[in-house]
Amino acid sequence: MQDERGLWSSKFGFIMAAAGSAIGLGNIWRYPYIVGENGGAAFVVLYLIFVLLIGLPYMLAEFSLGRATQLNAVGAIDKVKPGTKWRIAGFMGIITSIGILSFYGVIAGWTFGFIFKSIAADTSDFGAFIANPLIEIGLYAVFILMTTLIVYKGVASGIEKWSKILMPVLLLIIIGLIIYANLLPGSSAGLEFYLLPDFSKITFKTVLAALGQAFFSLSLGLGLMVTFGSYIPKSIDIFSAAIIIALTDAAIAIMAGLIIFPALFAMGENPASGPALVFIVFPQLFMQMPGGAIVGAFFFVLLSIAALTSTMSLLEVPVSYLVDQKNLKRSKIVWLVAAFVFIIGLPSALSQGSVDFFTNFGLIPLSLSPPDFLSQMSFIFGDMFLTIGALILCIFIAWVWGADKAARELEIGSPLFAKFAPLWKILIKFVIPIVVFVILLGIFKISGV
Ligand code: TRP
Repeated sequence: MQDERGLWSSKFGFIMAAAGSAIGLGNIWRYPYIVGENGGAAFVVLYLIFVLLIGLPYMLAEFSLGRATQLNAVGAIDKVKPGTKWRIAGFMGIITSIGILSFYGVIAGWTFGFIFKSIAADTSDFGAFIANPLIEIGLYAVFILMTTLIVYKGVASGIEKWSKILMPVLLLIIIGLIIYANLLPGSSAGLEFYLLPDFSKITFKTVLAALGQAFFSLSLGLGLMVTFGSYIPKSIDIFSAAIIIALTDAAIAIMAGLIIFPALFAMGENPASGPALVFIVFPQLFMQMPGGAIVGAFFFVLLSIAALTSTMSLLEVPVSYLVDQKNLKRSKIVWLVAAFVFIIGLPSALSQGSVDFFTNFGLIPLSLSPPDFLSQMSFIFGDMFLTIGALILCIFIAWVWGADKAARELEIGSPLFAKFAPLWKILIKFVIPIVVFVILLGIFKISGV
């Protein structure tokens, strides 16, 4: 993340920063459990369609607004249409990033805790681990603290340098685990669940979940990519960069599924185990593997770093707004926002068995989300708010600012985009807003709200 208004020094640096935000627990933790809850392969097909036809074109829109205005989302909207209600899209992004960070931090805490659990070859039950309030809150606090320190000290660039080296290593481990998991007896049933679509399993809930996951995993809908876009030099080809970012992110998620589902079926676990899913499956996989304690610890270190590059970007959304638009002091505001996030996340931390009220919270009907507070936050902010925010921002860019202006911005530095511009304009003006709107309407209908 960049503090002073600077520019990414290279296309590679920009791609790595955006991919660092996109690739995280969304790919390796959230994606598999959402696939599991939504019946497998048919969901995967929908998800991929949404990444290509909605996520990627929408990502281009956020980048173009950012590069054209050189501002964060709220600032950019104000510049295009000063003093209008459209700013609400920016505020939605700020609220949503706080909501997401609050439950994401809890899971990041589990990831961090599993480094030590792996080293200690501690095989105790996962259910007991997440139902222990002290451990839950402690790990969650540590992770939020690490994120805050990084955003406070502005050492994000250091973390990014490290992730350039470490993320390829994560990829290698993932490939190794795919091979290992698919050699386990009984794993082929998992591959079938994951790759052979049964379209009768598709419901409105599945469709929204796939759309929400596409936005979530690509870090879209909060205006974060507007801010990232504002650091892109005019010489960089945004179009090809966005293709690389979207495909890499989707590929990592697909690969995570290629480990989880074969392993899960080989172990006789339930694919619909909710947010705990990968924390049940990965440790068992490492346990039966030669040298698994070390591989496991290393895997969770890398996953923690991937999570950290995402939590950094999430915390940066409210912080950069308060610093840029309200002239507040970064060093103070970081702590205030982090403390606020921490408090909002406490019910999520206590919702996995330690406090009954939060475990069976159930504000959102069961037809849409499991009842625990964490899953419900993931649904409200990670699916609903994100999607609504994306819809408003999309309409703003396509209709208020203008798809033509956005397309012209994208053509700078990218001769190839000119060929796709007519298609892109149709997607951003009509297809994306209509599809997203219809899906959201469907949700209100089935939830009876
Ligand atoms: N994309 C990240 C992941 O998959 C999560 C995330 C980070 C995010 N920053 C975001 C999601 C901004 C939406 C918006 O883990």
